[in-house]
Amino acid sequence: MNSKQSTVSKFGLDPGKMPRHVAIIMDGNGRWAQQKLMNRIKGHEHGVQTVREITRACRELEIPFLTLYAFSTENWQRPAHEVTALMNLLVRFLKSETGELVAKGIRLNAIGQLNRLPDKVRQTLDEAIRQTAHNKGLTLTLALSYGGRSELVQMARLLADKACRGEIDPRGIDEAVVADHLYTAGLPDPDILIRTSGEMRISNFLLWQIAYTELFVTPTFWPDFNRQELISILQSFQKRERRFGRVET
Ligand code: IPE
Ligand code: IPE
Ligand code: MG
Repeated sequence: MNSKQSTVSKFGLDPGKMPRHVAIIMDGNGRWAQQKLMNRIKGHEHGVQTVREITRACRELEIPFLTLYAFSTENWQRPAHEVTALMNLLVRFLKSETGELVAKGIRLNAIGQLNRLPDKVRQTLDEAIRQTAHNKGLTLTLALSYGGRSELVQMARLLADKACRGEIDPRGIDEAVVADHLYTAGLPDPDILIRTSGEMRISNFLLWQIAYTELFVTPTFWPDFNRQELISILQSFQKRERRFGRVET
């Protein structure tokens, strides 16, 4: 048994059925805090601990891709003080974690309308991405100022521009070409999408990419989500039959 097989088997998981890509809608920070009569911002602060724990767990389980929905295009409409607190938290997270990301072979990546992020966030993010660019262990993608619809709009614009310049033939546009012009170009589609805090909705996340993703919604608020719960989701995932529209043969 190699090291991956033994780590994975230790948790009752089948090494041959591990997901390549886990995506998570990290929801419920505000409600977690409100339930404890705390400010919503406290919930976001505790949520950062969960990001750390789940990233470490995915690295240990040798899952190659983890994508976390951290801030949506719609989240810009929250009160300014909450947006500012989230941006500050992001800068602190990036600064404090880059060392560990480098040490653990984790490559940081970001998707979304990154040009809308404040300069300070953008610079810290670019620096962390640069420092981890050669890592091969786990690709941690943060969806920041991300919206699935705006991603599709920018893809349409890119392709239309290329067609106008004669660089592509519109009849040559197929699913692979579309996928190559999304923010997620180069990432496999998620095998698993987890949403914490019980809401049965997608909230504009990875609309194109989740066509055949297995969905898991847990009532747990994000700050209370942990490695054990991730492992039990992986166990249920391994029991599901993914048919991709076909019939069993
Ligand atoms: C998720 O928690 C974090 C972000 C959207 C930034 P929320 O802040 O949405 O928490 P709830 O859903 O209000 O509980
Ligand atoms: C989705 O959560 C976005 C993130 C987790 C970043 P929201 O809390 O913004 O979604 P809605 O408003 O419940 O749909
Ligand atoms: Mg929410």
